[in-house]
Amino acid sequence: MRLYIDSANIKKIAYLNEYFPIAGVTTNPSILVREKQPYLDLLKEIINVIGNNKELFVQVIGDQAEDMIEEARFIHNHLHSNVIIKIPVTNEGIKAIKILSADNIKTLATAIYTPFQGLVAALAGAKYVAPYVNRIDNLPGNGVNVVSEIACLFSKHNLTTEMIAASFKNVQQILDACLAGTQNITASPDLIEKLIAHPATSTDVSNFKADWQKAYGMDQKTII
Ligand code: E4P
Repeated sequence: MRLYIDSANIKKIAYLNEYFPIAGVTTNPSILVREKQPYLDLLKEIINVIGNNKELFVQVIGDQAEDMIEEARFIHNHLHSNVIIKIPVTNEGIKAIKILSADNIKTLATAIYTPFQGLVAALAGAKYVAPYVNRIDNLPGNGVNVVSEIACLFSKHNLTTEMIAASFKNVQQILDACLAGTQNITASPDLIEKLIAHPATSTDVSNFKADWQKAYGMDQKTII
């Protein structure tokens, strides 16, 4: 199981990459434009922060397969081998995924709303598929059910494609998606921190420290 940061904010990526077990960074066009920086410089800066060994996901803009393939090759050539190209699951996208996979360029099929979108993208050769849990919930639909059905299809048919469940708005959705069988998740920096934040933990830590300092003095902040 791997945990990705769904953001292009350098400060937040640097912080989380230092403190949390982060496997890489996922972006989309909306996430990139939010940072108001030339996008290639920004992507290179993200790579500098996380290192070449972690994955960086970059999405194409074109909606024709030929344009997607050209963009994918451009991104691939200008960044590094650990870049994964995000391609939406349209007919044109599936065509692009087939061609890029045959060319050993790794892809993630994005904007997944149904189990069959995930299955067809996997058959086309996508390395990853990204079901949009919260956006499915808002349709309304059941994002976690889609995760569970994709997990079941991949396992029953021995597909090596992995899921990176995405588009979360709260920790419960993340927990439910993990229990439903997603291998990986991507979440906003705020949600990643919320995964482990608990007021009871903070209270316990303060009480342990107060007991220690009562016995050994207020300056005694460590056991050394
Ligand atoms: C990730 O790959 C998606 O682009 C992202 O998670 C969408 O999230 P949102 O629904 O919060 O915009």
